[in-house]
Amino acid sequence: MCGIVGAIAERNITAVLVEGLKRLEYRGYDSAGLALFNTEGALERRRRVGKVAELERALAGEPLAGRLGIAHTRWATHGAPSENNAHPHFSGNDLAVVHNGIIENHEALRERLKGLGYVFSSDTDTEVIVHLLDHKLQELGDLTTALKATVAELHGAYGLAVISAKQPDRLLAARSGSPLVIGLGHGENFLASDQLALRQVTDRFMYLEEGDIAEIRRDSVQVWDASGRPVQRETVQHREGAEAADKGEYRHFMLKEIHEQPSVVQRTLEGRLGQQQVLVDAFGPQAAELFAKVRNVQIVACGTSYHAGMVARYWLEELAGVPCQVEVASEFRYRKVVVQPDTLFVTISQSGETADTLAALRNAKALGYLASLAICNVGISSLVRESDLTLLTQAGPEIGVASTKAFTTQLVALMLLTLAVGRARGSLEGAVEAGLVEELRRLPARLGEALAMDRTVEKIAELFAEKHHTLFLGRGAQYPVAMEGALKLKEISYIHAEAYPAGELKHGPLALVDSDMPVVTVAPNNELLEKLKSNLQEVRARGGELVVFADREAGLDNGEGTHVVHVPHIADALAPILYTVPLQLLSYYVAVLKGTDVDQPRNLAKSVTVE
Ligand code: F6R
Repeated sequence: MCGIVGAIAERNITAVLVEGLKRLEYRGYDSAGLALFNTEGALERRRRVGKVAELERALAGEPLAGRLGIAHTRWATHGAPSENNAHPHFSGNDLAVVHNGIIENHEALRERLKGLGYVFSSDTDTEVIVHLLDHKLQELGDLTTALKATVAELHGAYGLAVISAKQPDRLLAARSGSPLVIGLGHGENFLASDQLALRQVTDRFMYLEEGDIAEIRRDSVQVWDASGRPVQRETVQHREGAEAADKGEYRHFMLKEIHEQPSVVQRTLEGRLGQQQVLVDAFGPQAAELFAKVRNVQIVACGTSYHAGMVARYWLEELAGVPCQVEVASEFRYRKVVVQPDTLFVTISQSGETADTLAALRNAKALGYLASLAICNVGISSLVRESDLTLLTQAGPEIGVASTKAFTTQLVALMLLTLAVGRARGSLEGAVEAGLVEELRRLPARLGEALAMDRTVEKIAELFAEKHHTLFLGRGAQYPVAMEGALKLKEISYIHAEAYPAGELKHGPLALVDSDMPVVTVAPNNELLEKLKSNLQEVRARGGELVVFADREAGLDNGEGTHVVHVPHIADALAPILYTVPLQLLSYYVAVLKGTDVDQPRNLAKSVTVE
């Protein structure tokens, strides 16, 4: 989604803003721009459609320098990607705003402002903010006071950064539904929608909370909360993670992140396993008491995180004996749900800022759930702050838009949840838990072995480069793994891919199978294997080409039209985690062969903070 960077300093901050935008590129965008209070005492801007590199080129041709400025990468919601719709938006020549989020009452405000004589030059909802702010500034005389009066009239979601040539001693920020963080320097301060954008200038951060307004000066920061009271927000220091924005030896962030999985899974397990059991306190001090009461689990998430939830349903019902429902957040939030007594409400999210998942959590609070638990990769996210219990995945920043290491660490966290809930309820045998704890300890090594299949999968990818459609099949907990494999392939290679439970094949999709439709399947050696083999025969009998990721003991080997890749053996319960890896590698190498933009696929954004 959109990204914001701002700075106020005694030096020229153009390079800081551009570097910040580059670090936000991974979030997805279609245009970029910046505005500076220049050395002549006026506001000046450059905006370009396309990548930040286009903006950089424009700045090389027509340089801009200044000590106060704001910058933005836009992901179009209202109005097509165009230079006019790119941020910053101006009112007159002396007021500039950048905005993340959506203003829901923009039409009514636009009509009112037109009536007051304002002329609009874009199709965006954002432009109403800057004109309304200008109107308030004329009435009230002070920029900070005017911003407070402006946000009081906005409905919807916003993260805002504001500068004015009339009061160039300050950079203003306002947050409601869209994250903002202040970066603290020495004699200079910064603002961004994600701390990663500022790691080159500081490691000290102050996170704004919902409803906060901040006045950022060179050597001070003043924050007011939603009720207008001055507040002190905590300063946190991030010493690690600056290297996350670097691809290192890898060609793409996605490949780097796939290869990080053994270490981030290890980190996600650290401090959470006892000798023979999961340490329930890892979920929070009240977790043991709450988990003992759990009679149902409702999981809500989007996209890849939803697929993790789908896997967890198999685990929670089979291992912990708890009924579990899983739903995509965009449906759940608008549905009238019937809540069973003692239901634990679980959200799963890499970013913790996904608008639909957050809204689902907020709605759930009024519905009488036992408690809410967030499985999330970002400790300071809204989802974590607003949930009763939390288990953080330790994947580190995920830059590739297509989620990889976040998914596998979510699965690890969900297995920990399954074991903790099963034990607390007395529905999981100690020996079963001890066995799985042992298997979890071995998981990082198994993932390392799975990554050694890299070259083999690269070769298999050639089968897909010229194809337009694929089917992914799986049974049991491998069905959501197939869904995740299909999602990865379509996201980054733009090949149409659909996932089916293998048993559904003959109920319809078999009609599609021919030699132009490769069928990918995951086949661990479990009690569903023989059933799956019959489904594979159905494909072969119709001339369909098969790619099978199979356990060595599964009795599946290469044959005409059948390409088998052997996956290291693993306990069946953990197989969904391991079998995800070759599917990630497959989509990666197909995309590389097709020459698509692997890390920033078209039309997609990393953290979906709008509905
Ligand atoms: C797919 C992908 C998305 C996200 C979805 C939810 O590769 O990354 O489907 O999983 O947008 O995002 P989070 O997990 O941040 O809530």
